[in-house]
Amino acid sequence: MERHVKWFRDQVVFLTGGTGNLGVCLLYKLTLQLPTKKIFLLCRGSVQRALDKLEAAMAEQFDDVLDSHRVQFMVGDTSKPGLGLKPSDLRQLQEEVTVVINAAADISLQQPLHLSIQPNCIAHLQLLTLLRGFSRIKSFLHVSSTSVNSFLPDGIIEEQIYPLSDDNPDPEKVLSQILSTGQSAYTDNFIAPYALCKHLAERLILKQADLPFKTLIVRPSLIGPAIRDPYPFYGNDEGMPLQSALYNLATDPDYGLDELGKGINLDAVFDEIPVDLVASTCLAHLAAGSVGIVQAAGSLYVAATTGEITTTMIQGVAPTGIEKVRRGEIRQRQNLAPMFFQVARKYMRNWDIRCDRSEHLKEHTGVLGLSLDGHDPKAFMKHRWQNVSKSVSGLSST
Ligand SMILES: NC(=O)c1ccc[n+]([C@@H]2O[C@H](COP(=O)([O-])OP(=O)(O)OC[C@H]3O[C@@H](n4cnc5c(N)ncnc54)[C@H](OP(=O)(O)O)[C@@H]3O)[C@@H](O)[C@H]2O)c1
Repeated sequence: MERHVKWFRDQVVFLTGGTGNLGVCLLYKLTLQLPTKKIFLLCRGSVQRALDKLEAAMAEQFDDVLDSHRVQFMVGDTSKPGLGLKPSDLRQLQEEVTVVINAAADISLQQPLHLSIQPNCIAHLQLLTLLRGFSRIKSFLHVSSTSVNSFLPDGIIEEQIYPLSDDNPDPEKVLSQILSTGQSAYTDNFIAPYALCKHLAERLILKQADLPFKTLIVRPSLIGPAIRDPYPFYGNDEGMPLQSALYNLATDPDYGLDELGKGINLDAVFDEIPVDLVASTCLAHLAAGSVGIVQAAGSLYVAATTGEITTTMIQGVAPTGIEKVRRGEIRQRQNLAPMFFQVARKYMRNWDIRCDRSEHLKEHTGVLGLSLDGHDPKAFMKHRWQNVSKSVSGLSST
């Protein structure tokens, strides 16, 4: 592992999505835990917007990240030609970057197919085309999602590509149909249009066999709060779908608490992985020179069922809070419960998402390891739900 940590000394990283839930954690590890030579961070809108997001996400670590003087912000947008970068910025990336980590995406599960295809597929392919002009690049890491296989029946899911159907349709044809009609016959087989877009992106990236650099795809399952880095419980609700889903369902009198168990498979694996374990998996495999597909799912953390997690969550809520929910006094303003209920029904399945390529990392402590040394998952989960319920006054248990 020491060798892999040292590997970062020579790396100039270009990070997209560095203001997002996973990206902030990656940025923290690259700047403050690893000896990375330099990090170029793509940010939308303005540098000030990115600074505000980073400060909000990790207030206590923010100054140290900036004081490292190794982060250079570049304004751009993956949906624009040339990433919308200034020509001088693009030239600098082309001349200096050795590693690209692509963590930008639109993770909204509500986004219809015709809108999700741009940020979750086309933008990645355009980035890849641009990277062909980077003179020093050695590795490209694309962050995907285990939901790319949500069209599969229950059972084992290996770290490989699965065809969309028995006739193995050409992903290029599926994409061009989406682009011309805004629709696909495969959409409903997935938990959300987002997952089909990410499936196509994976296939179209890996199809490019002539790329002059290593290509690695990491598929996280649902991402949960950090156990350690940048600090315990780091993570925003929007970036933690299971937390938002259970929370919205549990606080809705029509779906939650009394109804939660009905219609959702509570025996299904609660397939969530802390965001910092995802970041460590990404960085460890990059340093090891891994290529192809790596999964980062719940089996790298702890196995629990949805029923167990729901019970822990409800135990974290005071009885008065439960009564308030039943009376409809705590209904969420946005009323996302019906959408989350549909997604949860599709997602709570008996998939066994294998992470064989990363099992060995569980033996390692340190910045690139996945050891849980000193971490108590049960206490953490209880504390987590207490934090969540405290965020809505009156729900908290004492
Ligand atoms: N969250 C999960 O549970 C989960 C599970 C599996 C896989 N993943 C994957 O993990 C990766 C990171 O997700 P996340 O949870 O960190 O998402 P997130 O918190 O929503 O962050 C998304 C990031 O992408 C950036 N971005 C979006 N559109 C962009 C554009 N057009 N140009 C430049 N940047 C853009 C956002 O920038 P702004 O700050 O400007 O918005 C933000 O930095 C994604 O590939 C996602 O599919 C996530």
